[in-house]
Amino acid sequence: MPDQADYILGRDYCASVRLNAQHACWVETLGYLLHPSIPLAIGNPEGLSIIDVGTGTGTWLLSVYQQLEAPFKQLVGADISDAQFPHNTWLPEKVKLITLDALDPNGPPEELRGQFDIVNARYLCGLVRGRPDPLIDFFSKLVKPGGYLQWSEPYNFDLGIESVGEPTEGLDYMVSKLSDMLDWAWLDLSDKDMKPFGFGIIAMQRREPHPWQRRWLLENWCMLMDELAPRLGWSVEKTRVMNQKAVVEAERGNYIKVKLQNIVARKNGSAQVENRDC
Ligand SMILES: C[S@@+](CC[C@H](N)C(=O)[O-])C[C@H]1O[C@@H](n2cnc3c(N)ncnc32)[C@H](O)[C@@H]1O
Repeated sequence: MPDQADYILGRDYCASVRLNAQHACWVETLGYLLHPSIPLAIGNPEGLSIIDVGTGTGTWLLSVYQQLEAPFKQLVGADISDAQFPHNTWLPEKVKLITLDALDPNGPPEELRGQFDIVNARYLCGLVRGRPDPLIDFFSKLVKPGGYLQWSEPYNFDLGIESVGEPTEGLDYMVSKLSDMLDWAWLDLSDKDMKPFGFGIIAMQRREPHPWQRRWLLENWCMLMDELAPRLGWSVEKTRVMNQKAVVEAERGNYIKVKLQNIVARKNGSAQVENRDC
């Protein structure tokens, strides 16, 4: 299997639990698995073809299979590593998980090109180095003309802290580490970024988690910090202490202001923007 060299997160059981919990949180925040501007009736009479790029544990794709009332032709989850996949004999008949490198300039393979009504991508920020163009190009090659891209990322560009009027040392540490670890400026995607690849943005949302999710999300991020510390050379001991402080601060009502961004773009579609509620 491809090694870990370029991937900043882990793929052990803690990493999988973190991703699955985060999935539940994000779906509740957004209120859907697929943005309502994406019609489920698209596609040919055989049903929809959907691919989830960087699928991880496959949790989004398997929720789509279970919860959306649509005829499916195929549901494909693709990831550079199969380390977090459920065993293939445990998957529903129309769900297939495959390995594939979304940054391969010669990809995707011929048999996947132009095959999908919907391309989903979520939380691939760790793959972006500077500009997201290689990823957008890859998505564009997968989607059929008139098909859709849904792309969700944490909008970590402007993380802030809402304090109840007291020092927030643990939350401050977390915000500074998460803000500095990647260049987030590319998240402000517009039609200018998408058009060269044949996409027009049709919806863009930035949603804050519900207040009752704040502690849940914070604890998920503590797991993320634990995972990142040894990989990014942060002090493991300090990170653990700061995480514990952050949880106590959250218990007292302090929280990190974060938004989840979801962009829907249509291949060769209209560039009219709906639901721009950010
Ligand atoms: C943060 S996880 C997100 C998983 C999933 N999309 C979710 O939201 O639960 C990022 C995923 O991208 C995958 N990944 C990393 N580099 C990749 C590449 N070059 N091509 C495809 N997938 C990649 C990782 O293996 C990991 O499963």
